[in-house]
Amino acid sequence: MKLLFVASEAYPLVKTGGLGDVACSLPIALHGAGVDVRLLLPGYRELLRKLPETRILGWLELWGMGRTHTVRILESHHPAYPFPLWIVDCPELFDRPGNPYLQPNGYDWPDNAERFTVFARAAVELARDALDLGWMADVVHAHDWQTGLVPAFLDTLSKRPQRIFTIHNMAYGGHFSQADFTSMHLPGYWWSGEGVEFYGGFSMLKAGIVYSDAVTTVSPTYAYEICTPAFGYGMDGLLKSRSYKLHGILNGIDMAVWNPATDPNLAAYYFDGQVEPGKSVNKAALLKRLGVENPGLHQPFPLLGTVGRLVEQKGIDLILNAIPDLLASTDARFALVGAGHGYFEQRLLDLAAKHPDRVFVYIGYDEQLAHLLEAGADMFLMPSRFEPCGLNQMYSLRYGTPPIVLFTGGLADTVVDASQTHLQDGTANGFVFREPTSRALKGAILRALDCFTQPKIWQQLQSTGMKQDFGWEYSAAQYIKLYQQQP
Ligand code: ADP
Ligand code: GLC
Repeated sequence: MKLLFVASEAYPLVKTGGLGDVACSLPIALHGAGVDVRLLLPGYRELLRKLPETRILGWLELWGMGRTHTVRILESHHPAYPFPLWIVDCPELFDRPGNPYLQPNGYDWPDNAERFTVFARAAVELARDALDLGWMADVVHAHDWQTGLVPAFLDTLSKRPQRIFTIHNMAYGGHFSQADFTSMHLPGYWWSGEGVEFYGGFSMLKAGIVYSDAVTTVSPTYAYEICTPAFGYGMDGLLKSRSYKLHGILNGIDMAVWNPATDPNLAAYYFDGQVEPGKSVNKAALLKRLGVENPGLHQPFPLLGTVGRLVEQKGIDLILNAIPDLLASTDARFALVGAGHGYFEQRLLDLAAKHPDRVFVYIGYDEQLAHLLEAGADMFLMPSRFEPCGLNQMYSLRYGTPPIVLFTGGLADTVVDASQTHLQDGTANGFVFREPTSRALKGAILRALDCFTQPKIWQQLQSTGMKQDFGWEYSAAQYIKLYQQQP
């Protein structure tokens, strides 16, 4: 089975969040299950710099916005992937520094519509073997709004591959104007409520939902939630009407990259059954990394950590609002790592400046620090208001760092609250609260701090999480089942 896996980012070449992790670890798992994979990515500047040798597969002339682009298709064999990587090289659209979607000032690139339309057109040409490479896709699997037009363009072919579209986050709809639609020469029949039109403009996410043979999202609970007005971003009705082709498939994690027994980013290795002294060594290293001169570890204190994009979704404001009371009433300290909205970045920095002995903040994106934090923190805070799947809570479980989460999306599907019942039946692995308020978060943190003082219970929680298998095997098999359906 030949699979063209189309994504706008993939670890370790380019990553802004969990999509990058999934677009690396899922195709690797599929390859392991015998699928013949090509991973297609845009040729961003930093990505091209990281590639070893590339060879040119051919050139395509593709329509953009009021102009055509000559696009080079490159092939590369990168050690991170056991299959060939294909790259859409179009310097005027992708040869830019920094974030793949945002300008340095934090706003979207103004030509995102054109960038990802050209990328989608290239994907379709490759899927139908327009370059005569002797490789025609049986399945095309596209991800999030950046690739939403791929299933739609494939719709215009008489003989087409099976089209799978995965929603990683409904909050990003890929919304553009009718003027963009027209100047990009998109097929007129798409312009309707049953097509891509959305409140007077058009949505690339909607295109993916409408024109794919199967839509998946990254957890069973989120698949249910997005069919409701609270989580559907105006597309809940559409999704409900497509429930016959909507599937919730929980993400896996890369059990090799995220393994505290072998992780090269850690100061000391550890594993289930022997968490100490490894965890404490990592805690000291983490504090040092965050600039703490004298961590005072002779007086053990609980360290609560988080890593993530600093956006509303992640409930960073709930954390910020809960911290002052917790500083007053407990001995907890906080290690907070993230980048995103300037407003949240500033509030974090202000809090750290006010409590230099208790709150440690790093603003920026740092892959190594993310690993060290998962290992060095005692608990992981993830009070997301919504969370399609969430990978960090799974990383935390694997690193013996019980997560504290809101009951939503993939968090609800992976974290089991340390209630009396679940402690007794041995399934508890973290702390779950039900209301998206800092009061409810504080309540869960206080329960966690109480458990932390009871070593037997704490070790049981850690061990339950560390033993769990979050590998891709089961979920990859579910994707393969969808791939095998007839278009
Ligand atoms: P989302 O995709 O919504 O951002 P996930 O939990 O699925 O959330 O995945 C987030 C991924 O991005 C994790 O691998 C996490 O470690 C990483 N990440 C997010 N922010 C940062 C950061 N500031 N530094 C390093 N890694 C980060
Ligand atoms: C999105 C979601 C996150 C999910 C990730 C990978 O970024 O916000 O919940 O884990 O995609 O699917």
